[in-house]
Amino acid sequence: MRSIWVILVVLGVATLRGAECRKARRLEETLEYYAISCRAHSASITDFGGVGDGKTSNTKAFREAISQLSQYESDGGSQLFVPPGQWLTGSFNLTSHFTLYLHKDAVLLASQEISEWAVIEPLPSYGHGRDAAGGRYISLIFGTNLTDVVVTGDNGTIDGQGALWWQQFHRKKLKYTRPYLFEIMHSDNIQISNLTFLNSPNIIIQGITILAPVTSPNTDGINPDSCTNTRIEDTYIVSGDDCIAVKSGWDEYGISYGMPTKQLTIKRLTCISPYSAAIALGSEMSGGIEDVRAEDITAINTESGVRIKTGVGRGGFVKDIYVKGMTLHTMKWVFWMTGNYGSHADTHYDPNALPVIQGINYRDIIADNVSMAARLEGISGDPFTGICISNATIGLAKKAKKVPWTCTDVEGVTSGVVPQPCGSLPDQGPEKVGMCAFPTENLSIDNVEIKRCSYRMI
Ligand SMILES: *[C@@H]1O[C@H](CO)[C@@H](O)[C@H](O)[C@H]1NC(C)=O
Ligand SMILES: *[C@@H]1O[C@H](CO)[C@@H](O)[C@H](O)[C@H]1NC(C)=O
Ligand SMILES: *[C@@H]1O[C@H](CO)[C@@H](O)[C@H](O)[C@H]1NC(C)=O
Ligand SMILES: *[C@@H]1O[C@H](CO)[C@@H](O)[C@H](O)[C@H]1NC(C)=O
Ligand SMILES: *[C@@H]1O[C@H](CO)[C@@H](O)[C@H](O)[C@H]1NC(C)=O
Ligand SMILES: *[C@@H]1O[C@H](CO)[C@@H](O)[C@H](O)[C@H]1NC(C)=O
Ligand SMILES: *[C@@H]1O[C@H](CO)[C@@H](O)[C@H](O)[C@H]1NC(C)=O
Repeated sequence: MRSIWVILVVLGVATLRGAECRKARRLEETLEYYAISCRAHSASITDFGGVGDGKTSNTKAFREAISQLSQYESDGGSQLFVPPGQWLTGSFNLTSHFTLYLHKDAVLLASQEISEWAVIEPLPSYGHGRDAAGGRYISLIFGTNLTDVVVTGDNGTIDGQGALWWQQFHRKKLKYTRPYLFEIMHSDNIQISNLTFLNSPNIIIQGITILAPVTSPNTDGINPDSCTNTRIEDTYIVSGDDCIAVKSGWDEYGISYGMPTKQLTIKRLTCISPYSAAIALGSEMSGGIEDVRAEDITAINTESGVRIKTGVGRGGFVKDIYVKGMTLHTMKWVFWMTGNYGSHADTHYDPNALPVIQGINYRDIIADNVSMAARLEGISGDPFTGICISNATIGLAKKAKKVPWTCTDVEGVTSGVVPQPCGSLPDQGPEKVGMCAFPTENLSIDNVEIKRCSYRMI
């Protein structure tokens, strides 16, 4: 198997510098940004007939630009600049050793013509589309089997104009699964940073190596799906679903694809998700989820913190999960684990395929205005084990539930947790308040070097 690694980093903004008035009265600016690689060749979408008026279709311009620039793959790579403007476009594919760079006032607008969206195969680890059986619409920005790709900007915007798709979904008119705004599969060395994703029909970052900061109002957030070595940092997400949903395939399709998500770090995430979790592990976890490190998580008006979702038939595992430092305001549940999630790909799932949930560590948590501290539901005959919770202070809401903890089919330990946890998570005494593990050594993804790159805008 190809080694995959990615860094997803920060909500950052490239600096705009050196605007000077030349004799010819041309405004020349050098835009600087940070990336895993800089490029030898540059072009602007306007060089390919692009028009940023919000009306003209730029689908052809993007496809031609990237097809032309792909000739530099083995000659120093290339960058494509998108200047200020509203750039309406249908789906296009990325290429290797390539940077797509959006000016801060550039907005990519997804086409509203369904005919501009090709239909492609469902993900192999899912077997089916999620909204409808069969194929799915291709993502707005799509890439597969690539290496060394950067999509960045000085907080430029990619607007999926998802309302069209949401309407079709609610009216049950969708023939295929809705497109994602951005998707990369079977790729490595991918960076996505300093962009705002708006109104995504969905977002996925799959099978990769990412250094990506994403500011994401009104989307389903980020889905690392069967990814190794992924880093998500300094990200602000307002979501109608989970802010970050970690996945690895669905029932028998995910079991046979067998590609886990592992070595994932999530740092400095701020999430608002009234109906879902800040970070969800599952429910599609049939290829396994392992070694996830979440640190400095803030959630406001969010249903739960880090939630595990699984069920009979999923198989796979969720193990060695480390969460350190959560600040939570107005939550329904701080801790939530669900062993009866249901939602099967089809009726062929194996009822003997039980998930293994083991080694789930939470420490250093402060929460206020919480309805219920924890709702932990393992699977009868397949308990969730090795749960460790230490140093957690949970302030309950005025109208909190009478019983703050409910636990079934779970085993573990606690220390320094208020209010007092259920009997199946016995208190180890105050001197063990630092006991829940959090790894101190870096993952290789943490050590990736970022370079300063530039684009000269004329
Ligand atoms: C994103 O922008 C910030 C400045 O706001 C900058 O410090 C950071 O390096 C940028 N990150 C990337 C990966 O471009
Ligand atoms: C993009 O790639 C997909 C999958 O390889 C392919 O089906 C589609 O035709 C490509 N689109 C374009 C515009 O080349
Ligand atoms: C892309 O990568 C996948 C996984 O490694 C492989 O199965 C597939 O054949 C590759 N596709 C192409 C077009 O090289
Ligand atoms: C980026 O833009 C969005 C709106 O498009 C804004 O809400 C956000 O604060 C901006 N982030 C930065 C770091 O400038
Ligand atoms: C407990 O958690 C708080 C943050 O929530 C942290 O400041 C403190 O150092 C932790 N205490 C121990 C003993 O780790
Ligand atoms: C506490 O949570 C409730 C909803 O459960 C909300 O209506 C209220 O505004 C919150 N109070 C504070 C002080 O945030
Ligand atoms: C670990 O990674 C962080 C950046 O993510 C870096 O600042 C730090 O120097 C690294 N530590 C070691 C020991 O390499």
